[in-house]
Amino acid sequence: FTRSLSITTPEQTIEKAKGETAYLPCKFTLSPEDQGPLDIEWLLSPSDNQKVDQVIILYSGDKIYDNYYQDLKGRVHFTSSDLKSGDASINVTNLQLSDIGTYQCKVKKAPGVANKKFLLTVLVKPSGTRCFIDGSEEIGNDFKLKCEPKEGSLPLRYEWQKLSDSQKMPTSWLPEMTSPVISVKNATSEYSGTYSCTVKNRVGSDQCLLRLDVVPPSNRAGTIAGAIIGILLALVLISLIVFCCRKKRREEKYEKEVHHDIREDVPPPKSRTSTARSYIGSNHSSLGSMSPSNMEGYSKTQYNQVPSEDFERAPQSPTLPPAKFKYTYKTDGITVV
Ligand SMILES: *[C@@H]1O[C@H](CO)[C@@H](O)[C@H](O)[C@H]1NC(C)=O
Ligand SMILES: *[C@@H]1O[C@H](CO)[C@@H](O)[C@H](O)[C@H]1NC(C)=O
Repeated sequence: FTRSLSITTPEQTIEKAKGETAYLPCKFTLSPEDQGPLDIEWLLSPSDNQKVDQVIILYSGDKIYDNYYQDLKGRVHFTSSDLKSGDASINVTNLQLSDIGTYQCKVKKAPGVANKKFLLTVLVKPSGTRCFIDGSEEIGNDFKLKCEPKEGSLPLRYEWQKLSDSQKMPTSWLPEMTSPVISVKNATSEYSGTYSCTVKNRVGSDQCLLRLDVVPPSNRAGTIAGAIIGILLALVLISLIVFCCRKKRREEKYEKEVHHDIREDVPPPKSRTSTARSYIGSNHSSLGSMSPSNMEGYSKTQYNQVPSEDFERAPQSPTLPPAKFKYTYKTDGITVV
């Protein structure tokens, strides 16, 4: 038996990513007793058990036939140009998930026969991975960090990393570092930073980044509320200013009219108790020459200028206003005023 036809390639499982090319090896040796014509046949037992074994490619009578199986049309080829030399390997290009199954290489050269099975697995690389926060990232809150690939064959492995600052993951997260979801409890601002999630399977990997900003609870709602209140206050302030300006202008206009009326039509008031005079006087200090503040200043100045000890009532010119002759001094017994 050892001298008979045999396939030297060991049985194996081949794992490839969708879209790639799978090389299914099938090398064989002949013995001198194998004298018949060489026939090579590849069969596929699809993983879908409903389907029966299918011939996918055939070499017979020195010719290649590869148009048997619609699903693999144009995607299956012998890799060797000289099959008789002992290489019956095939390539399946642009792999699809439907290509998953058991491939059988059958070599016949009478009286020798041999066959080997190869399991082909097609996996989808992880891709379109999205990192996001499920919940509100506030101090004291519980929320979740999630890592979700859009596609990718199982089993998937996850790995979270902190990229910023100390690059140290919070210790309470460590048990979930290899899980698609990290459950954050009682968040603190120290959790803030940039994180990455890497998703891997046997044929590829993908990564996404996540920026976490743990803020005080009031901040988020507070910022929005604050902005609204700010706008409202500004509006109130603007309308107040507009209102005041208008009112002042109206008042000024009114006063001018009143002033005008007094000057033109009303005779000058005779006494200080005149209502019109006191009205104007109280509003326009420039007009109120007899206002209490002016009087006070006047008397104060007078008092300060007169040294009380030297004060002597001037006997002469009683008709003159005393205010102008308040300052007196003595020289050689003569009083000069
Ligand atoms: C078969 O596929 C492998 C990659 O899996 C490639 O390196 C090789 O060149 C291919 N052979 C042919 C004949 O297309
Ligand atoms: C949350 O953490 C703070 C300190 O960071 C601690 O004082 C508080 O007790 C914690 N609350 C809970 C419910 O664990």
